[in-house]
Amino acid sequence: MCGIVGYVGGNNAKDYIIDGLKKLEYRGYDSAGIALQSENGIVVRKKEGKIANLEALIENEKLYGTTGIGHTRWATHGAPSDINAHPHMSQDESIAIVHNGIVENYMDLKKMLNEEYGIVFKTETDSEVIAQLISVLNKGDLEKAVYDAVAMMRGAYAFGVIAKDEPNKIIAYRKDAPLIAGLGKGCNFIASDIPALLKYLDEIYLIENDEMVICTPERVIIKDKDGRELKRKVLHVNWSLEDAEKDGYEHFMLKEIYEQPKAIKETLNRRIDENDNITLDGITLTKEQLEDFNKVYIVACGTAYHAGLVGKYVIEKMARIPVEVDIASEFRYRDPFVDDKTLFIAISQSGETLDTLAALREAKSKGARILSIVNVVGSSVARESDDVFYTWAGPEIAVASTKAYTTQLVCMYLIALYMGRLRETISEEYYRSILAELKAAPAKVEKILSRASDIESLAKMLYNRSNVFFIGRGLDSAVAYEGSLKLKEISYINSFAIAAGELKHGTIALMEPETIVISLATQDALFEKMVSNIVEVKARMAHVVSIAKEGNTKIEETSTETVYIPQCADEVSPLLSVVPLQLFSYYVAREKGEDIDKPRNLAKSVTVE
Ligand code: AGP
Repeated sequence: MCGIVGYVGGNNAKDYIIDGLKKLEYRGYDSAGIALQSENGIVVRKKEGKIANLEALIENEKLYGTTGIGHTRWATHGAPSDINAHPHMSQDESIAIVHNGIVENYMDLKKMLNEEYGIVFKTETDSEVIAQLISVLNKGDLEKAVYDAVAMMRGAYAFGVIAKDEPNKIIAYRKDAPLIAGLGKGCNFIASDIPALLKYLDEIYLIENDEMVICTPERVIIKDKDGRELKRKVLHVNWSLEDAEKDGYEHFMLKEIYEQPKAIKETLNRRIDENDNITLDGITLTKEQLEDFNKVYIVACGTAYHAGLVGKYVIEKMARIPVEVDIASEFRYRDPFVDDKTLFIAISQSGETLDTLAALREAKSKGARILSIVNVVGSSVARESDDVFYTWAGPEIAVASTKAYTTQLVCMYLIALYMGRLRETISEEYYRSILAELKAAPAKVEKILSRASDIESLAKMLYNRSNVFFIGRGLDSAVAYEGSLKLKEISYINSFAIAAGELKHGTIALMEPETIVISLATQDALFEKMVSNIVEVKARMAHVVSIAKEGNTKIEETSTETVYIPQCADEVSPLLSVVPLQLFSYYVAREKGEDIDKPRNLAKSVTVE
């Protein structure tokens, strides 16, 4: 998620912008920049890396301007670099913009701008299109040029614009990406997020979709998409800076759990066209190559490995190709069977996990084709892969991975469906039915989140237990592993997951009265078997919390408590059943007063072996 800050007033905009961008650093970014309206026109300074790099770049310059915009970039299109950093300037240097989001039709617009206006693009980004488009449409009325540009753009975006010929003015526009306006004293601001402005003001306007903001030192005007001026209630913000970074949530982890519907939608929607065809953007594998693979490895660590367990199931089921899932730290040392007919899929949120990177290098050295599923654009795993299929989860700050996991699952489903359709191992009807289920998933996750208080009550009742088992069969066992890791890593409660059918082969000896067993029973095809396993553990006086699909009330006869998820196809249930487990772990850890976002002994990215 990029950060935007703009200032228009009587002082040097640079100071306010740099300070504001620093308040947005927590969101994660890979480059930063600033544009100021100076007496010699618009000056742009931008640099890859941290804001400190930008400050070092400009420290010996006398940069002055009372109107300016700044940006911290979370790369989506185009690797992190000085040139791809924002702000972007138009070719005639009349316009500078900062942008958060994605212009989905940027390739078409680039082509039109090049052919009709001779625009030669300098960057790999989609954002540069906005600057070039506004500049060619600007006939002396910046507001109109912005409206005309927006009418031609498709996607989700919030952007800020300054124009050489319209001093003391910032125009911003919002569509499906966050934007606020800040009301200062003798100055006004735009920003993508409240933390950037808290130091200077406590009154803001929340900008809604399809609204334009015009900021001058004296006024902030809000207009709808047809240019009608809108009245907007001032929002008084008395958040601490820390509250603001969490957008009002108590922890980043909870915020990220609640961001999952949006993250799933973002990761899914831009890969499905109006005819329900999947485009695996970032993957250059040809049909022949995909048909030529005789083996797939999915290799990762921790939560990413658990996403791979789901991936194994769905790729084998849909593409009918053998898939082996391995923990990266094991894969590297077992001299695996890998050759040029192997597809090696690395999954990594950070893209910097050394075990995963080392396993990728091992597979590459043996001739495998490397496809990575990564959340951080331009990260090491991404750079060393032949193809990268990004999760669009946005920065994941909490150490315990949640939205990265569910978006990794979405990527697994898309790859499985795409390969299955290509290899004609699934019917068109099945393809469309699973695609429909994926599209319906965000709303179903929202429904589960709306019942979070039930899970909170359950957590309050069970938080002081010492041993918790997670059991399941088929896809449910894959999710059981993820649920167990979530509980362990933030509540420090000893927990482990086991395939339910395996219990009787030794582990059930551990069962004692009141042992907590979280049993996932969402797989229709295995439901009766799961009921038998639950009866087994109940017979040993265990306390069983079952996760089941709505309507399967029979499960209540053998469970102490039941948490329902909306009806869905067996294949897609992991996207839903993991959410109650994430919430359960969160509320247990919260009840125990643990440091949820930064658990002891853990790092967000494990860059050591
Ligand atoms: C998950 O909650 C943990 N933070 C950890 O297991 C993590 O998934 C693992 O270290 C892999 O990280 P990556 O996805 O960034 O490679």
